[in-house]
Amino acid sequence: MAELIRGKDIKKKIEEELKVEVEELKAKGVTPGLRVILVGDDPASHVYVRNKGKACERLGIVEDTIELPADAPEEKVLELIEEFNNDPAVHGILVQLPLPKHMNETKILYAIDPMKDVDGFHPVNVGRLMIGDPDFLPCTPAGIQQMLIRSGNDPAGKHVVIVGRSNIVGKPIMNILMQKKEGANATVTICHTGTDDVAKYTKKADIIIAATGWPGTITGDMVKEGVVVIDVGVNRIDDDTREKGYRLVGDVAFDEVEPKAKAISPVPGGVGPMTITMLMKNTVRAAKRTIE
Ligand code: GUN
Repeated sequence: MAELIRGKDIKKKIEEELKVEVEELKAKGVTPGLRVILVGDDPASHVYVRNKGKACERLGIVEDTIELPADAPEEKVLELIEEFNNDPAVHGILVQLPLPKHMNETKILYAIDPMKDVDGFHPVNVGRLMIGDPDFLPCTPAGIQQMLIRSGNDPAGKHVVIVGRSNIVGKPIMNILMQKKEGANATVTICHTGTDDVAKYTKKADIIIAATGWPGTITGDMVKEGVVVIDVGVNRIDDDTREKGYRLVGDVAFDEVEPKAKAISPVPGGVGPMTITMLMKNTVRAAKRTIE
């Protein structure tokens, strides 16, 4: 039986650490503040944003979500960002993605003050990570690194194969894990839709990070015995036996891969909870340095 790498449990430990930091900050007169901008009515985005609000409440971070209709002008989002950039009570700004098609995502992400970019998506922060001088790490990849380290699966010296090259997960986790730093220092291979034979690479992996957005991408015959697997996927598949009519599965065929794995993260309860925890960590960090 593979060990389960549960983000849910790791999250609780990190939240305990953060609660202490928030208390210390409050004693010094600083309450961490986060503003979230949510445009449109994508149901998954609404769930994520609600969970972000709940996490802030647990930790004592002041959070406010500004909801705009799907047809709101881009200018409105830019105005809000400008206001939050200039508000000293706001330490972190997050624009929930995806944005409606008529908005220019790049332009909006560029408008956020890099010092308040708790998502780590601003090109300045992306570039800083790339050159080995990171400030804010993007939340999902940072959460994956913590899961590996805290479960005793340090990536240093290991061959990590990432499947998926998105800006939110694949590319930044590559940059994080190949840094010449503790808890990183891995040899990294990225597979993507242009890869001729993904299994050729995954079979050689000590650690696989699956972030393709498709259920069952990584099957049992694609992995070696003793592999460590982090499943970033969150896919809804029809299931009449469930009240909601669907269930959540990852990108990994769990039943096939788990018997061969040393350790594997489940879906749900794996990477998902870590993303928000790392957002909280970034927000506390942003607040902390206003008095350092
Ligand atoms: N949409 C899916 N994941 C994320 C994330 O980490 N941050 C933001 N802002 N939007 C997302």
